Amino acid sequence: MKKNPSHKIHLFKEQNTINCSEDNTILEASLAAHVNHTHACGGQGKCSTCRVSVMNGIENCNPRNIEEQQIAKKLNFPAEIRLACQTKITGNISIRRMVSDKFDMDIISEQFSEDSKVALGSQQKLTIVFTDIVNYTSFAEKFPPYDIVHVLNRYYRLMNSSIQNSSGFISDVAGDGILAIFGINNENKNSVLEAIQAIKGMNDNLIIFNNYLKENFNTEFEIRAGIHFGDVVVGPFDTGEMKKMAVIGDNVNYASRIESANKEFNTKVLLSEEAFQEVKILYPKYKSYSTRLKGKTGQYKLYEII
Ligand code: FES
Repeated sequence: MKKNPSHKIHLFKEQNTINCSEDNTILEASLAAHVNHTHACGGQGKCSTCRVSVMNGIENCNPRNIEEQQIAKKLNFPAEIRLACQTKITGNISIRRMVSDKFDMDIISEQFSEDSKVALGSQQKLTIVFTDIVNYTSFAEKFPPYDIVHVLNRYYRLMNSSIQNSSGFISDVAGDGILAIFGINNENKNSVLEAIQAIKGMNDNLIIFNNYLKENFNTEFEIRAGIHFGDVVVGPFDTGEMKKMAVIGDNVNYASRIESANKEFNTKVLLSEEAFQEVKILYPKYKSYSTRLKGKTGQYKLYEII
């Protein structure tokens, strides 16, 4: 009987090259070569611990079968991440095993418990909003820690309801600052518009909040916000103690700089050029400003919707 041809698999971590026949899966070839290749479900296509990143030769991997398609969909695998136990090859490839130890296993088992498209981390074009409170510093200087913490918690809760009502979520808080994200897994909606609506909702809620502040602390807050639209890496970040969905990347810093620019122009909400382009048809009246942003080179055009 004619034997199916064999191909080479280069293992990046092990710096080794092994043979794999077209009859075998990558996992079978790997185990036959005595590689300590994690495969918690025994190659049933159920655990994803055998996952590999195909660094070269993805065109030589057979299309995903049903089992692999299901896991890839759940965990939002990009094309180059494949289940070694389900994948056969028709040419040479180079791979990197992605699960090395117990830490990796723990992270993967948590990804499985989440029903989220961003369980693995992905790059998405999202709307990033930074807000802070005008007058916060003078408030914090006047009142004891108990009051500060209590007031901020009340503030976060109220603001969170406006953000959630516009399909956003709070990714982080730091003192009076809130970082909110809009548009996650929803490229069909205008996430900049959602962010603008959320800020409007926050200001509506602030009227209620200011009644409380006036009565109890004889003060009032105002909100400043910066809105940017751009690519960020989004995913669940987990320290073991604290877990949160967060975004990272230069565009997050950009949004923070835009928020700070409100002080320079005495404005309350500023949009980056990229964010403004997403909504300009809806807002024909606007003012534009040109400025330098801390940590960035060149001039940036910012927009205030009137
Ligand atoms: S070994 Fe479990 S999915 Fe491959």
